[in-house]
Amino acid sequence: MGRILSSEPQNEDESFISIRPISLSEYIGQKEVKSRLEISIRAAKMRGDVLDHVLLAGPPGLGKTTLAMIIAHETGGHLRATSGPVIERQGDLAAVLTSLSSGDILFIDEIHRLPHVVEEILYGAMEDFQLDILVGKGPGARSVRLSLSPFTLIGATTRSGLLTPPLRNRFGMVLELDFYNVVDIALIVKRTAGILGVKVSDECALEIAKRSRGTPRVANRLLKRIRDFATVKSENEITLETINEAFRAMKIDPYGLDDVDRKILSKIANDYHGGPVGLNSLAATIGMEAETVREVYEPYLLQGGFVARTSRGRIITPKGYAAIGNPLIGFENLDLEG
Ligand code: ADE
Repeated sequence: MGRILSSEPQNEDESFISIRPISLSEYIGQKEVKSRLEISIRAAKMRGDVLDHVLLAGPPGLGKTTLAMIIAHETGGHLRATSGPVIERQGDLAAVLTSLSSGDILFIDEIHRLPHVVEEILYGAMEDFQLDILVGKGPGARSVRLSLSPFTLIGATTRSGLLTPPLRNRFGMVLELDFYNVVDIALIVKRTAGILGVKVSDECALEIAKRSRGTPRVANRLLKRIRDFATVKSENEITLETINEAFRAMKIDPYGLDDVDRKILSKIANDYHGGPVGLNSLAATIGMEAETVREVYEPYLLQGGFVARTSRGRIITPKGYAAIGNPLIGFENLDLEG
């Protein structure tokens, strides 16, 4: 099984580790991504090669880190995890690269945030496992070439569009993760419930899945909160009544939207008369970082058809209006009864 040499990738809570699938066969959904990985891993093993570099792209919470851990497990390589913003200088990356052994997996999260000078030394490392670094300063500076052990780089990004072409082109596989469908999320809820030792019927799993924004991380988080409600009621099985009670308390509407999502929609509807509005203005009105709105909230609002992007900015759609109630009749929140 793959080992983690560096610290564990960040998680909101430690129990998340144990509910992560370990092998590809346990991994639910993302069928195309899974089958492409399966083939390439098998082929690399048959040839005795290391797996080609993999870029995993998509919104947060869809399983990029989980897949990196699974790839390490499936290839038998050690996993070394780091992230773009943490690697500030060429020397930081050189230290990591030179410490890798043959077949190791280097996972760089948020790879689009790697400083450009650092990114440049990655090119040779990815292409022919050579590291060219400049030693010294001024007239005495000289370039030194080091040979690296063959390794697999797994880059993860929420913004694949920000990757420079030379970096992107050096990945043998670019895998785009999509939001999961409701059935796959329900299967994930059932699987996690099994691990947590809580009973949940198919109907209840579907009900949780419908409000999980197509995102396993959200589904698992909701399941745990709903389980809290069941625990305090001394119920060993999650019921529809408990689910609805928990969703009401968490202010999650039947679309899976929370307070922040509704605030975004209401601002577009009321302050900007439905839009269009630019991302920066919108984020400023809400009091959030533009990056957070773009990377965390907007993908689901766009994919769910609550907002649309036009050349002049974001607009709210009829479905978006429906989610916040028609502002013309001053009815801002959905009735969450039942
Ligand atoms: N837990 C989180 N994501 C998962 C997935 N894709 N399959 C199975 N369990 C998961």
